[in-house]
Amino acid sequence: MLCHGDGLLSFLTALLVVVLALSRSPALACLLPAGLYVALHLLSLEPPAARSAQRVLQPRGTAARVAHRGGAHDAPENTLGAIRQAAENGAAGVEVDVEFTADGVAILMHDDTVERTTDGSGRLCDLTFDEVRKLNASAKHRLRSKFPGEKVPTLREGVVESMRHNLTIYFDVKGHADQAVDALKQLYLEFPQLYDSSIVCSFMPDVVYKMRRADRKVVTALTHRPWHLSHLGDGTRRFRSFWKHYFYVGMDIILDWSLHSFLWRLCGNSAFLIQKNFVSQDYVSHWSSKGIHVVPWTVNTFAEKSYVENVLECSYITDSLVEDCDPHY
Ligand SMILES: *[C@@H]1O[C@H](CO)[C@@H](O)[C@H](O)[C@H]1NC(C)=O
Ligand SMILES: *[C@@H]1O[C@H](CO)[C@@H](O)[C@H](O)[C@H]1NC(C)=O
Repeated sequence: MLCHGDGLLSFLTALLVVVLALSRSPALACLLPAGLYVALHLLSLEPPAARSAQRVLQPRGTAARVAHRGGAHDAPENTLGAIRQAAENGAAGVEVDVEFTADGVAILMHDDTVERTTDGSGRLCDLTFDEVRKLNASAKHRLRSKFPGEKVPTLREGVVESMRHNLTIYFDVKGHADQAVDALKQLYLEFPQLYDSSIVCSFMPDVVYKMRRADRKVVTALTHRPWHLSHLGDGTRRFRSFWKHYFYVGMDIILDWSLHSFLWRLCGNSAFLIQKNFVSQDYVSHWSSKGIHVVPWTVNTFAEKSYVENVLECSYITDSLVEDCDPHY
């Protein structure tokens, strides 16, 4: 998959032909695609200046290495210790996950439950910030003894720590679109330097659209892994039921097409964050000609890193700045 071309024009032409065939009305057949085109044009958000996107995506003028969840292999993910470790290991940026506690505090955490990364248990939506704060955020990490005092940080603490180390921040937002947009908007107000040193990323186009509607200066990215609605990262099916599986395969095709044909215009995103296996030279140069950066994730082996840095010349997201490790989806 991964459409390259400008699928929009062919879609509108196909729509015209289908409406013409069904309705036999040339007026309707022309009005419908034209109306859609105008609506898209009116609702589309201009991307931020190419200069600020460039500063965010290639802060040192070349391909940048970004530590996934702060570098989940090198330190306990989404902690202040991970951010410091990433800086020490020479990362240009960190990718962190935005989540919320039951009482609405924005924190750094990937999952919506605390089991995998801390010594606690339960769902974030049932835990207050005070309860989450008592947990040990390094308890499950392979290097726990090196990071004894890690707590779950607030989003703001993560931002302050990253800025202290001159790291670019990739805010990964997985849900709670309105809550996340409000929290991030406050941060951009408080720290205007974030316009030139951070990017808001999401699998969900509505998050990106809402963020940019709230503040056009924010640099954003659409995150994508082809077939992710129907398949897990390792290629196995998400659903056993035949009909459910093929329904989601269909949704995957529609999503892939939508992202690459009109959602990028609508959102005015400056980058695509794409699962590494689906990134080719053609794909990168196609989007580069439209002023859009491609950032592969998660690039975890030496061979892949040198390909992405030297051949694709793309910034990339990795779990480790120091050694090869298993991929993350
Ligand atoms: C967190 O857990 C790790 C691993 O069990 C332990 O070494 C560390 O002392 C704990 N930290 C605190 C503050 O309890
Ligand atoms: C961050 O950048 C500023 C300005 O370029 C520089 O003065 C400072 O030393 C840098 N700090 C770190 C920790 O690299």
